[in-house]
Amino acid sequence: MPRCSVTRRVHFNAAHRLYNPNYSDEWNRTTFGKCANANFHGHNYELEVTVEGEVEPETGYVMDLAILQKMVEERLIRHLDHKNLNVDVPWFKDLNPTAENIAIVAWRQICPAIPAGLRLRLRLWETPRNYVEYEGA
Ligand code: NI
Repeated sequence: MPRCSVTRRVHFNAAHRLYNPNYSDEWNRTTFGKCANANFHGHNYELEVTVEGEVEPETGYVMDLAILQKMVEERLIRHLDHKNLNVDVPWFKDLNPTAENIAIVAWRQICPAIPAGLRLRLRLWETPRNYVEYEGA
């Protein structure tokens, strides 16, 4: 069977602050720069959710993107959109909300709902110039 990857792009905006409470304010300023500012800042995040696998002969789909979109909204986006990640979202209570960690959290939320035999890859854009990718492990 031929294999394809299909991608749905979703959006959320959220505030955060990069900070490691185990280290001094000075260390945090040096390490994270203005991203450590105490009063938070926001981003317009774009998340590309990619599912890769065999094309089903019955449908011609790898996966129905409408089903994927609803699931990502339910399991992930509604928990993050218009939130302060550090303050409002329990997933980041003890986890620095870097783009890397947001991508890992997102993958763990979405992966259990992906049909067996398909692979999940995420690309999270934090700004139009910066993205991180995660595909498990
Ligand atoms: Ni930031």
